[in-house]
Amino acid sequence: MENTNEYFQIVGGTRLAGEVTVYGAKNSALKLMAASLLAVGETTIENVPDIADVHIMEELLTRLGCKCSYGRATLRMKILVPEVPGHRADYDLVRKMRASINVLGPLVTRVGEVEVALPGGDAIGSRGIDFHIKGLIDLGAEAHSEHGYVIATAPNGLTGAAISLDFPSVGATENIMTAAVLAKGVTTIDNAAREPDVVDLGEFLIAMGAKIEGLGTPVITITGVKELKPTTHATLSDRIVAGTWAFAAVMTQGDITIHGGRPEHLEVPLDKLVAAGAVITTTVDGFRVRMDKRPVAIDIATLPYPGFPTDLQPFVITMNSIAEGNSIVTENVFEGRFMFVSELQRLGADIHVDGHHASIAGKYQLSGAPVAATDIRAGAGLVLAGLVSEGITTVEDAFHVDRGYPGFVEALQSLGAKVSRHI
Ligand code: UD1
Repeated sequence: MENTNEYFQIVGGTRLAGEVTVYGAKNSALKLMAASLLAVGETTIENVPDIADVHIMEELLTRLGCKCSYGRATLRMKILVPEVPGHRADYDLVRKMRASINVLGPLVTRVGEVEVALPGGDAIGSRGIDFHIKGLIDLGAEAHSEHGYVIATAPNGLTGAAISLDFPSVGATENIMTAAVLAKGVTTIDNAAREPDVVDLGEFLIAMGAKIEGLGTPVITITGVKELKPTTHATLSDRIVAGTWAFAAVMTQGDITIHGGRPEHLEVPLDKLVAAGAVITTTVDGFRVRMDKRPVAIDIATLPYPGFPTDLQPFVITMNSIAEGNSIVTENVFEGRFMFVSELQRLGADIHVDGHHASIAGKYQLSGAPVAATDIRAGAGLVLAGLVSEGITTVEDAFHVDRGYPGFVEALQSLGAKVSRHI
């Protein structure tokens, strides 16, 4: 996360029409990269997006003794993992990229010790890692925190266990799964996360030789194996980026064909967009979203997959701000995810937040103003808000958006948006 002074400038009022291509998911690619630590030798991950977080993970793996090489043209990441990797993830990297904590599971199970800086909270919530730690302790690790680091050890390896999560946490499911693949015996994760990213990671592990059943269901069963082999795997397409384009089409009364989009991973959001008035059709390699009228406001409540994704919530609030009617948006996953609402209010949006509910009264148009991105999705939401605002909107702290959307400005320009990047 480079904290530069770059900002986006948007001249509102254009309809987006054309085609975009969606690449590998940030939230899959980072986890696949961390899990490559489980096998000695060269792992190849394809369809890796060229975004800042990927390069931070590259830096982390390099500090752990791996040799990484990334092809910007091929989107291919090669990771050569040594016999004995290092075991420390420093604070300077973890604070820039939370997914650094995904090295916990692989390192404790393979190296027998790991020290990872506690990530702390961020702009979307307090985001504890208690389920991750408890899961590793259930598998037989010793764990404690000291001087801002979680230190976990398992000198004699881990042992399979029955683990039940209080909440189907994506990160905890991933860390437990990547630890259990090399544990002795059988592990079950009850109330496991069912997100496509978790399934992608599980399939990658299976390709490396792991024994995993129940991916995509609430109970994942893992039978430990002695060792894993490096493999080649293509990262799953980014459903959140695809969903962002779908909302962009609806908000601007546009027509966007999303190559590489996987509608089956967006069932609930796309149903909601149809309720808002969109026409959505599948295409040979993705889907197309068309809208020829002002959207009708929709009520949503965010939930773990297959429920409405919290990462798309900012786009609903933005769309509802210019939609016909009143709506209620309920955030059930991250308590801080309404932080960007005060920025949208600067654009004239009529939103009232009460706890984890936001009530929104739709207006015809917002009114351009300077605003600042607080996180990846909120930042992208504000750029889309600029598209439906009269006049000029500037979105500061563009680096947040860069973390999740490779080539965002160029893609928007190709769709007809008047968007530019400035320093
Ligand atoms: C991942 C995604 C994020 C997405 C989220 C939910 C990455 C890098 N990020 O985040 O974009 O919004 O899934 O789909 O993949 N919790 C605890 N204790 C824990 C773990 C989680 O209390 O040990 C809470 C969190 O604070 C949050 C909820 O559980 O309220 C869900 O978190 P989780 O599913 O773990 O999200 P992440 O994996 O952090």
